[in-house]
Amino acid sequence: MMSNDFIYVYVNVSRVTTTATPTVLIGQDELTARIAALAQEIRSDLPSGQLHFICVLKGAFLFLGDLIRATEGPVSIDFMACSSYGAATSSSGEVRLTKDLDASIEGRDVIIVEDIVDTGLTLHYLQEILQARGPRTLRTACLLSKPSRRKIDVKVDYIGFTIEDKFVVGYGLDYAEQYRNVPYIGIL
Ligand code: IMP
Ligand code: MG
Repeated sequence: MMSNDFIYVYVNVSRVTTTATPTVLIGQDELTARIAALAQEIRSDLPSGQLHFICVLKGAFLFLGDLIRATEGPVSIDFMACSSYGAATSSSGEVRLTKDLDASIEGRDVIIVEDIVDTGLTLHYLQEILQARGPRTLRTACLLSKPSRRKIDVKVDYIGFTIEDKFVVGYGLDYAEQYRNVPYIGIL
């Protein structure tokens, strides 16, 4: 194969065009109701004071948006990103921080906001590095959890939905950067 052929193939794979419509696993109304309940639970565990939500990009961005709008009282937000997946559907087991927080979390009441806990490797890594920065409290909210896939025992304080070992997309979650705009959680 000539080098030009290789580039052609790569571009085609990296710009997947979505044709398949994901099958609904968790619908919009169910998401809204469950996220409102999570927000109440999070606030009742810290009735007064500022909650500092840390969104793990990119998958959790819609969850963060809905979660903070359902949360009463003072909140602040920050963003971080790490990569463990590339375009594959199974974890490489390697986690790398690709975007750090803007502000210090020392002395703050921090909630990590994640889209999904699969093997648990990403979350475990994030919890370790954030705990080392001296927050007053550190808790984790995950929209989805696949407990059957865990490789490491990781504590998740708030879980939206526990699901089976199926690859899901939508509501911020992607397959090769596609499907994030699907307004429900679906299976390909
Ligand atoms: P873990 O480190 O294996 O727990 O993987 C966590 C990350 O993998 C999540 O934050 C997602 O970005 C991604 N991930 C795991 N399972 C799925 C899935 O079913 N759909 C989309 N992304 C997933
Ligand atoms: Mg993620």
